[in-house]
Amino acid sequence: MTNELKVYNPATGEEIASVAQHTKEQIEDAISRSHQAFKAWAKTSAHERANIIRKWFDLMIEHKERLAKIITKENGKPYQEALGEIVYAAGYIEWYAEEAKRIYGRTIPSHTTNKRLFVTKQPVGPVAAITPWNFPAAMITRKAAPALAAGCTFIVKPAEDTPLTAIELVKLGHEAGIPEDALQWVIGDGKEVGEIFTDSPLIRKITFTGSTPVGKHLIKNSASTVKHVSMELGGHAPLIVDKDANLELAVKQAMASKFRNAGQTCVCANRLIVHEDIHEAFAQVFSKEVEKLKVGNGFEEGTSIGPIINKRGFDKIVSQIQDAVDKGAKILVGGDTHFDDDKSYYFVQPTVLTHVDPSMNIMHEETFGPVAPITTFKTLDEAIELANDTPFGLAAYFFTENYRNGLYISENLDYGIIGWNDGGPSAVQAPFGGMKESGIGREGGIEGIEPYLETKYVSIGLDE
Ligand code: SIN
Repeated sequence: MTNELKVYNPATGEEIASVAQHTKEQIEDAISRSHQAFKAWAKTSAHERANIIRKWFDLMIEHKERLAKIITKENGKPYQEALGEIVYAAGYIEWYAEEAKRIYGRTIPSHTTNKRLFVTKQPVGPVAAITPWNFPAAMITRKAAPALAAGCTFIVKPAEDTPLTAIELVKLGHEAGIPEDALQWVIGDGKEVGEIFTDSPLIRKITFTGSTPVGKHLIKNSASTVKHVSMELGGHAPLIVDKDANLELAVKQAMASKFRNAGQTCVCANRLIVHEDIHEAFAQVFSKEVEKLKVGNGFEEGTSIGPIINKRGFDKIVSQIQDAVDKGAKILVGGDTHFDDDKSYYFVQPTVLTHVDPSMNIMHEETFGPVAPITTFKTLDEAIELANDTPFGLAAYFFTENYRNGLYISENLDYGIIGWNDGGPSAVQAPFGGMKESGIGREGGIEGIEPYLETKYVSIGLDE
């Protein structure tokens, strides 16, 4: 590993920081300290952990403007959106501070009179997390808060593009009273750090948000030490608009889903599947809204679409647009790019594509960019089949005012998160996660603490 990781502002390409990378020995030392710290942290009372974690939430809110500026600088998302992320991220900390006090076991009626049967919960042990750049704060707190609340210790390796937010969050955690060795960050190359984490028998759980291929690799590597794994992986969300949808609502919510973080979210709508009777009306109103989006530096007033995180992401988006156009798609709005390879900044004008078909890459591969392909359907079954025709199963959206159709669609979509007339279903109190190749486990809500807990069954024998 090289010594320094340079961090760039993706809107300007300027270097904003240089962070020392950890060596293999330093990361192994961090793991060993996490293992040592676990003994004491796991033994603190749930109320003590809750109070400390709650203090972390208070500090995050106190520092929200400063943290949001760091996000906009290293990730590029518009400042107001970054502020929204900080509040969202802090919400997970608040929720799990409270949830720490509700880790219940149970008693089981015995089959004999001379036994008492109990089930208790205990923390799984030291946890290692690998987190992405698209939500530099929320994807950390959604893992760290339940882990710490459960009594686990936690080490995070943030994405190389966005380490600064992670470092600040960890510092605030220490200021709140979380012991330094119970909450740590390490910086390094994703693959190398991933291998150190998965190889270590001291790490008992790996939690990852990122691409499906990397997730599969981590799952495979975790097998040798039989670690717990939680995986929040790729998506390819369909967004179905039925003919009886409230068009205005559908457009508004489709905009929110598709263009949040410039389309760089795992849950954002990747395919718009619109009933043929309303396709033209929908495409027209939607395109008008898309034209209003202002692309630029996230610190500039009115910017709603920031830069693409890096050249790799940009090239993928551009190649998907090109592939679709080569195969017959029409660009209704957008399609332009603004970039500078020397300075390393990359912008994509929000784009709407029509005349798309399943032969196009954009209809199968996650885009992670501000491009909305619109296709049509005749019957609900056709729409559902199209929607489910993917190895992914993270989020899906549909719009209908007909409750029978709505129930039918929601029951038949193979997705972990469904937004019915809702383009933004994420909530700290609700389970987030995918089916099929979109992941294993859930984060958020009461489900989100379970993956950090072991179940222990105790059978007590008594004298007759
Ligand atoms: C993601 O796209 O990875 C997370 C989005 C969310 O939490 O809503």
